[in-house]
Amino acid sequence: MRTQVAIIGSGPAGLLLGALLHKAGIDAVILERKDRDYVLSRIRAGVLEQGAVDLITSVGVDTRLKAEGLPHAGFSMGFANRRLRIDLAGLTGQHVTVYGQTEITRDLMDARLAHGLTTVYNAEDVALHDFDSAKPRVTYVEGGVTHEIVCDFIAGCDGFHGISRASVPSGAISLFEKVYPFGWLGLLADVPPCDHELIYANHPRGFALCSMRSPTRSRYYVQVGADEDVAAWSDTRFWDELRRRLDPEAAAAVTTGPSIEKSIAPLRSFVAEPLRFGRLFLAGDAAHIVPPTGAKGLNLAASDVHYLAEGLREYYRDNSEAGINAYSARALDRIWKAERFSWTLTMLLHRFDSMNPFEQRMQEADFRYLENSRAAQTTIAENYIGLPF
Ligand code: APR
Ligand code: PHB
Repeated sequence: MRTQVAIIGSGPAGLLLGALLHKAGIDAVILERKDRDYVLSRIRAGVLEQGAVDLITSVGVDTRLKAEGLPHAGFSMGFANRRLRIDLAGLTGQHVTVYGQTEITRDLMDARLAHGLTTVYNAEDVALHDFDSAKPRVTYVEGGVTHEIVCDFIAGCDGFHGISRASVPSGAISLFEKVYPFGWLGLLADVPPCDHELIYANHPRGFALCSMRSPTRSRYYVQVGADEDVAAWSDTRFWDELRRRLDPEAAAAVTTGPSIEKSIAPLRSFVAEPLRFGRLFLAGDAAHIVPPTGAKGLNLAASDVHYLAEGLREYYRDNSEAGINAYSARALDRIWKAERFSWTLTMLLHRFDSMNPFEQRMQEADFRYLENSRAAQTTIAENYIGLPF
């Protein structure tokens, strides 16, 4: 098989890149290790910056997003039983859109199918070859048979555990990482949300988040130890713990119900540099991980693939390598700023066993400063709605 761009991974990064390239008239094939249902079974954060909504709109995959996405003009932060609302609309003139990441993946997959574009699911043993030459190749096994794709470029959109980043010689890549000493236990339930906006709460027992997927489906999280076993958390234990960590008004408004899904996600900050190796580009979770505080994962994947698609469009349309040459630096500039924001919010909102009394007082002072400073609230708001790209 021959294509212009071989995309590894059919998560949001690979799918959105595929859609942007299709719109630009560039031929691409997506290789995905798992099947469609597996990819759609993963539950991830659901807050979209306007820039991500605009990109999805630009590829014409916004019908359900426009109908079902919930515009949120603000969110709250809880501390010491008080709640501070960050007025996104008032401080920045913009809002965010709450729409499940799984639904975006589904919409992009459906659009790809409708356009007759090739995705190979269950592609085993994907291997990248010769990306340091002008003629890269990708091989994979499907149904016991080895296939080869000859291409101009490879886009590594295969997530944190993918093969793309792992294919780069170790001397050519630098990795930056911070692993947090806790995880988020998430629960999804068909119950109405406890508030019309999100609440991120810092409590002596640990962080909690009240989020939602729709007016009838809620997503809640509580901070748990890194080695916690999800089996130790009955629904009742989860609901009790959640309510303990919220201010009395929010706690009283929580409607409980049976969980549809419950899982623990570790928290990590991670960046790889650079993001280009000859004709291989890394994008999305293959290139970086943010802790979910602030919900930047998908939004960063969107800006990465925007820069990459622009670069590839210039390459094919204008015969210019300027865009692909600039890709790594452009993407990393925005990635590091989102890493900084996600890290700041994580440090502000979580309880760390290692915190000494001085550091605890610093966290409290941070909150009290935020409560009374429009400038500090604006800093949070402009990052939450998303830096421009
Ligand atoms: N070969 C082919 N596909 C692979 C391989 C491989 N060796 N390894 C991983 N994949 C696939 C995974 O099965 C997955 O479907 O790559 C895809 C990567 O998708 P995500 O992990 O969702 O990564 P990305 O698209 O960058 O996600 C960006 O969306 O899912 C969230 O947490 C993620 O917020 C982040 C954002
Ligand atoms: C979610 O709805 O899953 C969610 C929302 C906001 C976050 C993280 C996760 O910051």
